[in-house]
Amino acid sequence: MESTQNRKNVGDFLADVMPDLIDKHILYEASVQDPDVDLALIERISERAGFPSPVSLREDFCGTAWMACAWVRSRGDREAWGVDLDRPTLDWAETHRLPVLGKDAQRIHLHEENVLNHSCPDVDCVAALNFSYMIFHEREVLKQYFQSVYESLKSNGIFLLDIFGGPHSQDVMKEKKAVPGGTDFQGTEYPDFTYVWDQAAFNAVNHQIRCHIHFKGKHIVSIPNAFTYEWRLWSITEVTDLLHEVGFTSVDPYFEGWSDEDNDTDGVLEIRESYEGMLSWISYLAAVKQES
Ligand SMILES: C[S@@+](CC[C@H](N)C(=O)[O-])C[C@H]1O[C@@H](n2cnc3c(N)ncnc32)[C@H](O)[C@@H]1O
Repeated sequence: MESTQNRKNVGDFLADVMPDLIDKHILYEASVQDPDVDLALIERISERAGFPSPVSLREDFCGTAWMACAWVRSRGDREAWGVDLDRPTLDWAETHRLPVLGKDAQRIHLHEENVLNHSCPDVDCVAALNFSYMIFHEREVLKQYFQSVYESLKSNGIFLLDIFGGPHSQDVMKEKKAVPGGTDFQGTEYPDFTYVWDQAAFNAVNHQIRCHIHFKGKHIVSIPNAFTYEWRLWSITEVTDLLHEVGFTSVDPYFEGWSDEDNDTDGVLEIRESYEGMLSWISYLAAVKQES
């Protein structure tokens, strides 16, 4: 009896000290994505433009397609397309995300394609989040992408993308964020961990930037270099000008404000015409196509 009890205690002890092996996609989603915020912003942009609430969404660079999943789940008449080049990531989405939706999954269509040359139908809204378009280094290619987004939107359409900047975005540095434990879309529990954004190299001549994402912490098996990006750090003025050039009627930058009390952003997204003294910032750009 006593030895069984001892074994149980040893088992419990090991379970407590052994870090969990958590899938990097789960850690990524918990660290940098919040589809509820994205969907609420799309609704706001749509109302502001005087458009009916959007029904169809294409999530470009969709990865695990979490936003597309949230879209079809948000309303029974909504349909979503996800486009990504990476077969293994799409397979992961098909195994770990789509089954959670039950029959709502019939309204999601994942395409293993290049966003520059996809075969999805026209939609009310396109989202390209977490700076993924920065994979395009040449102006002509980024313009080609924006042009194809414009043309694939219906007459009253919205393109939502994001951008980061400020003097610190050009520094070689690491930034840590504590992510509290929680439960993912599929119900998998994860413990608290640390997300590390690593700006490993920046070339001031051509604005090429190499970034890594690392995950670490006492309770998880660390994953160094879980993701690596070789991007061009586009400026907000370059991107805004290009969006106007391809035909978008308006381009509005939404920023969170700053809370001195919390020494952090305040979580309130507003269109801001000027934003001074921010050493680093993230903004959503809402590009609106208004043809009728
Ligand atoms: C930063 S992740 C974005 C994941 C997710 N959508 C998000 O908002 O966090 C970038 C994704 O873009 C995909 N990707 C890169 N270049 C692409 C291209 N030209 N066409 C389609 N997908 C591409 C990669 O496979 C990767 O899954």
